[in-house]
Amino acid sequence: MEPTTAPSGQQKDTRTVDTLTITDNRTGKQYEIPIDNGTVKAIDLRQIKVDAEDFGMMTYDPAFMNTASCKSKITFIDGDKGILRYRGYPIDELAERCSYLETAYLLIHGELPNKAQLEEWTNNITTHTFVHENIKKFMDGFHYDANPMGMFVSTIAALSTFYPSAKKIHDPQERMLTIYRLIGKVPTLAAFAYRHSIGMPYVHPDNELTYAENFLNMMFKVAEPKYKPNAVLAKALDILFILHADHEQNCSANAMRSVGSSHVDPYSAAAAAAAALYGPLHGGANAEVLYMLDEIGSKDKIPAFIREVKDGKGKLMGFGHRVYKNYDPRAKIIKKLADQVFEVTGRNPKLDIALELERIALEDDYFVKRKLYPNVDFYSGLIYQAMKFPVDMFPVLFAIGRMSGWLAQWQELLLDPEQKIARPRQVYLGYDKREVVSLSKR
Ligand code: CMC
Repeated sequence: MEPTTAPSGQQKDTRTVDTLTITDNRTGKQYEIPIDNGTVKAIDLRQIKVDAEDFGMMTYDPAFMNTASCKSKITFIDGDKGILRYRGYPIDELAERCSYLETAYLLIHGELPNKAQLEEWTNNITTHTFVHENIKKFMDGFHYDANPMGMFVSTIAALSTFYPSAKKIHDPQERMLTIYRLIGKVPTLAAFAYRHSIGMPYVHPDNELTYAENFLNMMFKVAEPKYKPNAVLAKALDILFILHADHEQNCSANAMRSVGSSHVDPYSAAAAAAAALYGPLHGGANAEVLYMLDEIGSKDKIPAFIREVKDGKGKLMGFGHRVYKNYDPRAKIIKKLADQVFEVTGRNPKLDIALELERIALEDDYFVKRKLYPNVDFYSGLIYQAMKFPVDMFPVLFAIGRMSGWLAQWQELLLDPEQKIARPRQVYLGYDKREVVSLSKR
């Protein structure tokens, strides 16, 4: 597909007056369908009928393999070339030159902030990091070993009951307030979920710290009067949040848009997005990678493991992507970042297994033919683990960074006059009409 944004940063209009001519071999009729930005509208196919009774043709596309569900100006991916840009800016430049909060501003507002805008934005987010005291009681209700991602998803949904005015989704001020609140509060909810799971008291946000530093504070502070975050680790975490911030129409962004299209409040939609992220095929894959490396155990077991994957007895987690058919650019950045983190924390011994696994997989015909490369989740878990995050927290860390992307997607959806409530069609293959037989005769 043609990029919607030219490399120079200028908007590129790919509109043409081109059309597609379709001949229906059932009837011999011809139809001319307009092509817009390299797409045809599925609704334009409805005119194709065998007779007046016919409902009209639909497209069939389970899992959206070749269907654009929206027009977007947020994130551009070229999966064959391994390119990822937010609002036109390459991901590696953002990771090198911007903070997570600058990137979040960019995703939401469309432009990088100037100094004054960044100060105001940071202040607005920082002053919304606290949660209502009753959230703690809510957290306390979870079983002692509850999975932190389950707690995180539920408490995001619970926030809607604390902020009922967020229902006014057509009010730009209300929307912005929710954006501050959700970006501000997700690290707090995440850290509270972790602290609950290890039976430690909750740590209040420290508004003198940066976004990433404060998260480390709420996670790991013990008895010291003021938590002193390690600068290298805080920077690494900030970069990881940037790398995870958005990824165009992935499963969770689609959940945010689909649920948001019913005009429910944004907390409920964000909870649905976080729930979608929880799955092992999506954001849950970073935890699965670690379980997989544990299971492999040592380098000499890798060939046997690869054989099993090729025999269809499981997947190489952290490999493959619906869109990337090349090295995931985020994985490249994370691999470099790992060296800096390991200098502080010591090398994660599983790195050697991961590197060898990657080396073997990238030479193996099975993976080469299917264009399966390491994705963002392959190396991120090794960093998280070296930083002392438990494996169950990995999807939660993904979700913290992704919140800004979900909110940008949600806002774009609401402001798009072409969008309506998401409601797919189906191909019904069940019974035709039949009569209910009474219970005694069945
Ligand atoms: N290990 C082994 N084989 C694989 C893998 C893998 N990780 N991924 C795909 N394949 C095979 C798959 O079996 C299929 O083979 P065949 O053509 O013989 O049937 C072929 O490659 C195409 O795969 P697919 O399942 O049709 O591809 P998809 O686009 O539907 O799935 C995916 C994409 C990411 C769900 C999948 O690659 C996968 O399950 N990977 C492992 C989980 C993972 O790492 N997920 C994180 C994705 S990145 C983070 C995010 O953005 O969510």
